Amino acid sequence: MCGIIGYIGMKEAVPILLGGLKKLEYRGYDSAGIAVLGRGGLAVSKEKGRLSALESRLAASPLEGTLGIGHTRWATHGEPSDLNSHPHLGEQQKIAVVHNGIIENYRQLKEKLVQRGAAFQSETDTEVIAHLAEQFYRGDLKETMIKLSEVLEGSYALGIICADKPEVLGAIKKDSPLIAGLSEHGAFIASDIPAILEHTREVYYLQDREIALLGRDSCEFFDPQGEPLIKEKEEVTWSLDSAEKGGHPHFMFKEILEQGRVLRETIQDSLWKGRNHEVLEGLDIARYRKIVITGCGSAYNAALVGKYVFEELCRVPVEIDIASEFRYRDPIIDASSLVVLISQSGETADTIAALRLAKEKGAATLGIVNVVGSTIAKEAELCLFTSAGPEIAVATTKAFSAQLVLLYIFSVHSAAALGAITKEEAQILGEEIQSLPDKAEEVLSSTGMIQKHAASWVGKKSIFFIGRNIDYAIAAEGSLKLKEISYIHSEAYAGGELKHGTISLIEDNTLVVSIASRKALYPKIMSNTEQVISRGARVLLVGNAEVSGMGDDLVQLSLPRVYELFSPSLSVLVLQLLAYYIAANKGLDIDKPRNLAKSVTVE
Ligand code: F6R
Repeated sequence: MCGIIGYIGMKEAVPILLGGLKKLEYRGYDSAGIAVLGRGGLAVSKEKGRLSALESRLAASPLEGTLGIGHTRWATHGEPSDLNSHPHLGEQQKIAVVHNGIIENYRQLKEKLVQRGAAFQSETDTEVIAHLAEQFYRGDLKETMIKLSEVLEGSYALGIICADKPEVLGAIKKDSPLIAGLSEHGAFIASDIPAILEHTREVYYLQDREIALLGRDSCEFFDPQGEPLIKEKEEVTWSLDSAEKGGHPHFMFKEILEQGRVLRETIQDSLWKGRNHEVLEGLDIARYRKIVITGCGSAYNAALVGKYVFEELCRVPVEIDIASEFRYRDPIIDASSLVVLISQSGETADTIAALRLAKEKGAATLGIVNVVGSTIAKEAELCLFTSAGPEIAVATTKAFSAQLVLLYIFSVHSAAALGAITKEEAQILGEEIQSLPDKAEEVLSSTGMIQKHAASWVGKKSIFFIGRNIDYAIAAEGSLKLKEISYIHSEAYAGGELKHGTISLIEDNTLVVSIASRKALYPKIMSNTEQVISRGARVLLVGNAEVSGMGDDLVQLSLPRVYELFSPSLSVLVLQLLAYYIAANKGLDIDKPRNLAKSVTVE
């Protein structure tokens, strides 16, 4: 999704803005631009494509000044192009704006402006904001932003500079994240922490319709009516290192390898003590007659795993739904329902909408979120945090693993509270959960074998994933991971479903990844595996089922023994590495797959 940075200070703005935008590349973008206010007035430079294209343009025509705003755009209104990229200027070229989000009433606003004779350069909703800002401006940027917030409908995080105000950087937000920060040499706004972490660790999170006015050595905040506001600084505890590649070829690989630590930290914070543990202790699960778990993409796949685990341990039915569908089916929930919302970013528009609908209907809400300070973390009644740290690669790996482990802990805790398992059983399951980080590290220390196989599967046109029960849930995640980064077509099926149609797609040399971690279901999944082999498929078997008589058609990757319901935490590592190595062998842009954004803040 789009990224914003703004700077006002003692240093030249361009290198700081470009440095910040580089740290935001992971959000996904298709164009970039900056506006700088210097001695020569307000100047804009923007370019379709990667940041390197903007850098070349700036090298040829440098911009000077110590106040500026920058943006990486992920197209929502209008195609990716130089003209549609941000910043946008008003008609008098006096106010420049960068914007994340979507203005829902921009057509109506634009029509009125056009009737008054305004001419637009781009197809964007953002240019409407720049025009309106100039119309509202009477020498006071704060008043201008208040007026904007009165007419704009939809979501926005805005950075605004004005040719008349060389000492002020303005910002306001609604439903899109925005932070401010102050360093020794200047003040910043940004859509995400990595953009400014090099300069400061102390950040302010803006809430909806709050306004920030930044000076060279000051950050002032105002409420939506324009009254001064004292905001608490929050200290960023993770390092910039953890937001960088650390010598690995891709963020995704680094993040895959970090999973032992991520599991350990998440468990430490949740199982027997810690802030998540306190949240779970305060949750009276017996109050709820209905549990719904929702999320998008991988977060939905985590929900699918969670359903199997929670139902088996608690013997309570769980409904799961894709967050983008949830609000359009008028879900049957009320005060006796608990809606669990899973999101790495905490900013996924569909998941936020599901959260708000759940609250509207009186349901209790529990977030499982990675980004502290995000919208879901702030708006959900209760929140469990995955200790994954910043996840930079667009394809989620470590945050997904942390979501799984929190779902296990939530399930074990609930089962004990409901009396579905004894205290002793809960203790044993807790120990199984605690064994996961070491076992994950064991799997991650033997990447060579997966790498070797992946090299020979690069040319596949289509790869199928099959499994039963929780193995089906994790098959769905393996398939999503593979297709999003390798661009190879893939489908995940419950093993027993193949014969109802899909088996017709299996031909000589089709690769089928078969996952087998439930002993009771070994005969079933192995029979499905034999069915595809007899139709010409080659199989990678992930799991410990006994194999006989399948010769060279099958390669097996065994996993460390673990309580079966928690096995997705190990099998998913193999599937992530498989996707990674196949994409790496194809030489693809793994951390930023085409058309994808890290944080999908539009519907
Ligand atoms: C897949 C992936 C996406 C996200 C989805 C939800 O690798 O990363 O499918 O899981 O966009 O994002 P969050 O978790 O931020 O709500």
